[in-house]
Amino acid sequence: MKYTLGLLLVLQVITISVQVKGEDYLSTDYYHTSCPQLEEIIHKKVVAWVNKDYTIAASIIRLHFHDCAVRGCDASILLNHYGSERSSAVSKSLRGFELIDDIKAEVERKCPKTVSCADILTATARDATLQIGGPFWQVPYGRKDGRVSLAKEANLVPAGRENITSLIEFCQSRGMNLLDLVVLSGAHTIGRSTCEPVQERLYRFNGTKQADPSINKMYLNYLKRKCRWASEFVNLDARTPYTFDATYYKNLQKKMGLLSTDQLLYSDSRTKPLVTALANQPWLFFQQFAVSMIKLGNTQVLTGKYEGEIRNNCNFVNR
Ligand code: HEM
Ligand SMILES: *[C@@H]1O[C@H](CO)[C@@H](O)[C@H](O)[C@H]1NC(C)=O
Ligand SMILES: *[C@@H]1O[C@H](CO)[C@@H](O)[C@H](O)[C@H]1NC(C)=O
Repeated sequence: MKYTLGLLLVLQVITISVQVKGEDYLSTDYYHTSCPQLEEIIHKKVVAWVNKDYTIAASIIRLHFHDCAVRGCDASILLNHYGSERSSAVSKSLRGFELIDDIKAEVERKCPKTVSCADILTATARDATLQIGGPFWQVPYGRKDGRVSLAKEANLVPAGRENITSLIEFCQSRGMNLLDLVVLSGAHTIGRSTCEPVQERLYRFNGTKQADPSINKMYLNYLKRKCRWASEFVNLDARTPYTFDATYYKNLQKKMGLLSTDQLLYSDSRTKPLVTALANQPWLFFQQFAVSMIKLGNTQVLTGKYEGEIRNNCNFVNR
C-alpha cells in the first residue's frame, strides 16, 4: 500500500505540472510585475483576521471549496445579488466574505483592476491553511471572475448525506480522483458543522428509529448531548478540533467521523485503504493536501482573453 501511494503521489505531481501548463496559462508569477505586493497583502490580512477569530480559517477553506465546486473557481460564490449561489439556503452557513472584501479593498488600492476575486479567494485559502499549521503550496494565478451565479446550482455541493459513489462522481466530473476526495475531506480536521446533517445519524438511520451503527458508542452519547437542536454547532474533528493534522483519519478508524460522508470513507472498500495510509502517515496527508488543493484551485477556471472579468468589487459583476 505504501508503495502504491508513493507512486500515486509522484503521478499526481506530474499531472499537476502538465495541467497547470495545459490549462490555459495559470502561473505562479502571473502578478509578479502587475501586483508584486499581492501575496504580502493577503498574508498580513489573514494573520490579523485569524488572530482575532481563529474559526475564520476553516470557513475560508470551505468557502474556496464551495466556489470551485460550482462553475469552477470563478468567485461565483461571492456574488451577492438576488438569486445568487450565496443567497441560497444551503449557503447560509458559509462565512468569511468580509475577509475577502477587506483584502480586495486593499488590493484595489495598491493594484487597481488587476487581481481577480477568484485568485484572492484561492490564495486566502492557502494562507488560512498555513496559518493554522497546515502545509504551504505555491498558488498558480490567472483566474478570471465569472458573471453567472445561480442559487439552485449551490445544491450541487455535497452536504454530508451522499453515498460514496456520488462523491466520487462529483470529484471525477471536476478532474479529481479518489485520492483527492479522501485527502480534501481531511480539511474536516478543523472547523465545525451545524447539527442538522448529524441528527439523522443519531435518531433516524436509514429509515429506522435507531442510530447509525457506524458511530462509536461513547461518541454517540456525546453527540446526543451536543446536538439537541439542529442549529447547534459541533466540531468536525472531535479530538483535535483546532489543529490541522491527520487525526481526522484516526477518528474514522475509531468510528468517530461526524458526517456520514466522513465515516463512509472508512467503510467503502475503494476509499478505506487510503484512509488507513493517511492515518498512519501524517506527512503524506500534508504533502498530498497541498497537491490536491492545487488541483481543486485549478478546476474549470476561466482564463481565456474573452472569458470572465476582473471584478472591481467581489460582491457584484462589473457594470
Ligand atoms: C467531500 C464532500 C464534502 C462534504 C459532504 C462536506 C460537507 C460539509 C458539511 C456538511 C459541513 C458543515 C456545514 C455546516 O453545517 O456549517 C462542512 C464544513 C466544512 N468543510 Fe466540508 N464537505 C466536503 C468537502 C470539503 C472539502 C473538499 C473541503 C476543503 C478542501 C471542505 C472543508 C470544510 C471545512 C473547513 C468546514 C468547516 C467550516 C467552518 O468551520 O466554518 N469540505 N463540510
Ligand atoms: C447514490 O446516490 C445516488 C444519488 O442520490 C443514487 O442515484 C444512487 O442510487 C446511490 N447509490 C447507491 C449505491 O446507493
Ligand atoms: C438500509 O435499508 C435498506 C432497506 O431496508 C437495506 O437494504 C440496506 O442494507 C440498509 N443500509 C445500511 C447501510 O444499513
